Amino acid sequence: MLPKISVTVFLLAVVGLAVAGNNQALNITFNGFRSANLSLDGIAEFTANGLLKLTNATRQEKGHAFYPNPIKFKYKSSSSDVSVYSFSTTFVFAIIPQYPTLSGHGIVFVLSPQRGLPGSLPSQWLGLFNNTSNGNSSNHVVGVELDTILSSEFADINDNHVGIDINGLHSAVSAPASYFVANSTDYRNLTLISGKPMQVWIEYDGNEKQMNVTLAPVDINKPKIPLLSLLIDLSPILKDTMYVGFSSSTGSVLTSHYVLGWSFAMNGSAQNLNISQLPTLPSTLTKKTPKFLIIGLPVIMVAIVSVIVSSLYYVVRRKRKFAEELEDWESEYGPHRFRYKDLHIATRGFTDEQLLGAGGFGRVYRGILPTSKIEIAVKRVSHESRQGMREFVAEIVSIGRLRHRNLVPLLGYCRRKGELLLVYDYMPNRSLDKFIYDEPKCTLSWSQRFQVIKGVASCLFYLHEEWEQIVVHRDIKASNVLLDAEFNGRLGDFGLARLYDHGTDPQTTHIVGTLGYLAPEHTRAGKATRSTDVFAFGAFLLEVVCGRRPVDLKAPTGRYDTGGYGVLPLDQGGANSSCGSEIGWEL
Ligand SMILES: *[C@@H]1O[C@H](CO)[C@@H](O)[C@H](O)[C@H]1NC(C)=O
Ligand SMILES: *[C@@H]1O[C@H](CO)[C@@H](O)[C@H](O)[C@H]1NC(C)=O
Ligand SMILES: *[C@@H]1O[C@H](CO)[C@@H](O)[C@H](O)[C@H]1NC(C)=O
Ligand SMILES: *[C@@H]1O[C@H](CO)[C@@H](O)[C@H](O)[C@H]1NC(C)=O
Ligand SMILES: *[C@@H]1O[C@H](CO)[C@@H](O)[C@H](O)[C@H]1NC(C)=O
Ligand SMILES: *[C@@H]1O[C@H](CO)[C@@H](O)[C@H](O)[C@H]1NC(C)=O
Ligand SMILES: *[C@@H]1O[C@H](CO)[C@@H](O)[C@H](O)[C@H]1NC(C)=O
Ligand SMILES: *[C@@H]1O[C@H](CO)[C@@H](O)[C@H](O)[C@H]1NC(C)=O
Ligand SMILES: *[C@@H]1O[C@H](CO)[C@@H](O)[C@H](O)[C@H]1NC(C)=O
Ligand SMILES: *[C@@H]1O[C@H](CO)[C@@H](O)[C@H](O)[C@H]1NC(C)=O
Ligand SMILES: *[C@@H]1O[C@H](CO)[C@@H](O)[C@H](O)[C@H]1NC(C)=O
Repeated sequence: MLPKISVTVFLLAVVGLAVAGNNQALNITFNGFRSANLSLDGIAEFTANGLLKLTNATRQEKGHAFYPNPIKFKYKSSSSDVSVYSFSTTFVFAIIPQYPTLSGHGIVFVLSPQRGLPGSLPSQWLGLFNNTSNGNSSNHVVGVELDTILSSEFADINDNHVGIDINGLHSAVSAPASYFVANSTDYRNLTLISGKPMQVWIEYDGNEKQMNVTLAPVDINKPKIPLLSLLIDLSPILKDTMYVGFSSSTGSVLTSHYVLGWSFAMNGSAQNLNISQLPTLPSTLTKKTPKFLIIGLPVIMVAIVSVIVSSLYYVVRRKRKFAEELEDWESEYGPHRFRYKDLHIATRGFTDEQLLGAGGFGRVYRGILPTSKIEIAVKRVSHESRQGMREFVAEIVSIGRLRHRNLVPLLGYCRRKGELLLVYDYMPNRSLDKFIYDEPKCTLSWSQRFQVIKGVASCLFYLHEEWEQIVVHRDIKASNVLLDAEFNGRLGDFGLARLYDHGTDPQTTHIVGTLGYLAPEHTRAGKATRSTDVFAFGAFLLEVVCGRRPVDLKAPTGRYDTGGYGVLPLDQGGANSSCGSEIGWEL
């Protein structure tokens, strides 16, 4: 079976070649030369990906690539006349020099009576002729040169031109490499040695006896106006059968000449090349770059890029993590403003181990300021509205200036998106209510309780009467009183506090505070005054004395209405206890 097929294929091939050789209807297309059967000589070779590489990096050499079969170019147009067929060809080429501005020689599309142009020379002879054969009409050679060297001996116009050569290198017509822009007579110059692929169209009209050459970048459609147009009758020049192909040569500068695709048609227009199917040129990087760079560079690039990306990500994340809100008006509060970053470091990132207490009001964390090593407690409260924030911060800062030994000093604040952080001195003991309610291992003695009550009263007097402004705390209760190392009561949580100038009337505000401590006239008139603070202090006083909450929803019914302030844990008066080390903070 297999031999039969091979024989059939072989026969078909032979028939095909015979047809091609003897019939005018030659029509070949190479979108890349992967499966092309061209006859190569000199240093010409096919690359693995299907490029026709006419010259490799060798000096003073020539390379040829020819369609292997002779092609009939002439026909009997009348009993006495022999004419040349119309033909057309197009190809895509690229010239990649070793140094961007220095070129080798060029590429020639050539019609030649012999395959391989024997006796021709490299360098400026372009692999076409030699000193003796150049210009001799017995050559029967027609070429279209893409010449990149100015050879004054051939009267070249410049070192970047296209020319039509008839039997010699002194071009019959030539023009600087350029193309006409579509729909206009403007032209653009091209650099043949740019290393960029360009396309050439060569057409011969057998009736008009005109030869046109057109050049354009590979991504541009064929310009309507040809670069070269030569009226010439090829019948005395060409032989009956000719070979078609390419010639190229190197001089003293290493240059690679590539043909990417080629199509040729006799008596008709050559098939368009499919540009997307053409093989890719070797990147110029691979030509000179050491191997370690080819492998190393992308790795290094990837590494650099990923380092940049990740550090950017880190910076952005860090920036977002430590983002805080800072407005112009806050600049005057500089010393009272804490950087979120510092608070974050102080509290070890607000971890649960640092948590002192939590509740509906927010969370309180213990921390140590990074530079001053001061122990602090940070209360995080959410603030959604920006409304009144300015006034609030102003008051916070004012409160920060309060100094009293029965006061938890407010050190400052920090604002973040949707969050306010209040920074207080750290109080080593818990809040008072823990000692009263939370089934403590130790309970405060009466003298301790009395000391606490006196302390809070003294503080309240300071706030109401002694300071430059009137400070109404608005939330006096046992859980807002903290015990210091000596079990002194210290009033804390100034989050609801309001400031008034002495002699002014307090403004009506939202009613804030804690149920059970709210004075009846406060809920009625909506005004927080020194008197409403005193009412709350009264409730607090009873709370400390009795060990009962003002409003105890869990208390047995019947005792709730009467207040039940009668239970005094005097019997449990173990004076100074070791409860201080326990954590349980509220501010
Ligand atoms: C290529 O063409 C030549 C000349 O016609 C021929 O001898 C050779 O067998 C062909 N090679 C292939 C692989 O077709
Ligand atoms: C170029 O090609 C020729 C012939 O194929 C070969 O001998 C020479 O080593 C090649 N030169 C380079 C630099 O590859
Ligand atoms: C020049 O080329 C011709 C063919 O074109 C050849 O016959 C001749 O021998 C060559 N002369 C030299 C000196 O190589
Ligand atoms: C080339 O031929 C010309 C005459 O045709 C001669 O003057 C010249 O010296 C020759 N050059 C070389 C390199 O042979
Ligand atoms: C042209 O070449 C032919 C054969 O190669 C030779 O006989 C003839 O003298 C040459 N003509 C000139 C002008 O060199
Ligand atoms: C040129 O003109 C034709 C029609 O006259 C139009 O289809 C085409 O888009 C034009 N090309 C450019 C580049 O303007
Ligand atoms: C194109 O190149 C030619 C010759 O190299 C030069 O004379 C001409 O000014 C150039 N034209 C443009 C538009 O660059
Ligand atoms: C060559 O170009 C001219 C215009 O410059 C055009 O009239 C002619 O038809 C073209 N000939 C061929 C064979 O393309
Ligand atoms: C060229 O091709 C045309 C059809 O495209 C045909 O009519 C004509 O006979 C052909 N010319 C020759 C000389 O074969
Ligand atoms: C060449 O062949 C292609 C299809 O393979 C066809 O489209 C084109 O018209 C042909 N050209 C000639 C001149 O026969
Ligand atoms: C060119 O080749 C691509 C890929 O092979 C194909 O998809 C496309 O249809 C071709 N274009 C033409 C005009 O033949």
